[in-house]
Amino acid sequence: MIRAITGTKDILPNDVIKWTYLEQLVKEIFTNFNYKEIRTPIFEETQLFARGIGEETDIVGKEMYTFSDRSGTSLTLKPEMTASVVRAFIEHSLGKLQTLNKLFYISPMFRQEKPQAGRFRQFHQFGAEVLGSDSPLADAEVIIIAYRILVSLGLKDLRVKINSIGIPSARENYKTVLRNYLKDKLPDLTEESKVRFEKNILRIFDSKAENDIKIMQNAPIITDYLDEQSLSDFQVVKEALNSAGIPFEVDPSLVRGLDYYTKTTFEIVSGKVGSQSALCGGGRYDLLINELGGTDTPAVGFAAGIERILLACENENAFTPDDSSIDFYIVVIEKNLDKEAFRLSCLLRENRIITEIDYSARSVKAQMREANKFKAKFVLFIGGDEYKEGCFNIKNMETGDQKKVPINDISSICAMFNK
Ligand code: HAM
Repeated sequence: MIRAITGTKDILPNDVIKWTYLEQLVKEIFTNFNYKEIRTPIFEETQLFARGIGEETDIVGKEMYTFSDRSGTSLTLKPEMTASVVRAFIEHSLGKLQTLNKLFYISPMFRQEKPQAGRFRQFHQFGAEVLGSDSPLADAEVIIIAYRILVSLGLKDLRVKINSIGIPSARENYKTVLRNYLKDKLPDLTEESKVRFEKNILRIFDSKAENDIKIMQNAPIITDYLDEQSLSDFQVVKEALNSAGIPFEVDPSLVRGLDYYTKTTFEIVSGKVGSQSALCGGGRYDLLINELGGTDTPAVGFAAGIERILLACENENAFTPDDSSIDFYIVVIEKNLDKEAFRLSCLLRENRIITEIDYSARSVKAQMREANKFKAKFVLFIGGDEYKEGCFNIKNMETGDQKKVPINDISSICAMFNK
């Protein structure tokens, strides 16, 4: 038997109900903040991600799905959206059309990570990129949107963590301080952290090894080495979150795994999804657009993992979206009326009434069972004495009330649904 690829999963009809509910809510909240949707291709030239995300990151170093097409061009399935959105922003000169571009997306992403609960190889993100503002209020806005979406889904066990990693020069100073602090502790660090010491020292904060964590807990903190502007911007972010009533904590170890960040970084974590607890993450990336060949444009954004959010919802018993009930089930009492029933079902569907009908010539009892399974609001019977009198018998499945409706009076059936 051929099975789905490890780390991918089918989203079956019962789950799709949750996905569409979440996607609609996401679109509603982004629209409320005047964001416009952007869609980009599933694959891009590999160098976009290598340059955009950073050669030394885990994503570029070991997680990308990269392949050559028949012309020998190296392509990569997108592991994240920020680089793609920036590419599209530059390619279509979106900054010339509008000084501020507030964009959102919902899209599959691909990373060859070790699959576990909440971690997949094809997963889905929704997210936002705000291009063209250096105001820290824009940072606060994206954090507020992310939080608002999660809370609107009914999630409660959430922690908003924020940090500022400053501009590159301040960060370089801090890296020197950190290097000095870690120099004599190097033999005690894990092999992975030793490599990070050489290549990407800030990422040692992401180590899950107990001893590494202990060592990093006493490390100097980045916020003590920030430049004036980053510090005052960070202050504005905190004040804006306070005024919006968003609870947050400052976490100086929040460095994030992608290289493009400057100043604000943030994550929202759930206490209910085990080790893959980050439901979303993001931050400011003022230099990326220039690095990818565009004119200097400050930007900020975030992305959230839909599978993880749905897992958190399940574990918190959060939202139970109204699952699909149907309006009408047509029960055929006399088998020779099946074509008449079919004609009626077409008429009702034309009037946007959700209708189901039996094609298997089943007994009335079996059809009623089916109507219950689909949670039909009404059952319409075709046949029997009423039909001979020129009427349908319609049963309200909630109250049990029955009424007769003349066969030609479709408009009064539609009126039951205001359609
Ligand atoms: P990221 O932290 O790599 O950031 O991913 C954002 C979110 O995507 C994570 O918090 C997690 O919920 C979800 N996610 C990541 N990898 C997986 C996986 N293998 N399986 C399931 N879910 C996953 C970014 O992608 C940045 N582009 C965010 C950003 C936008 N920063 C600025 N703008």
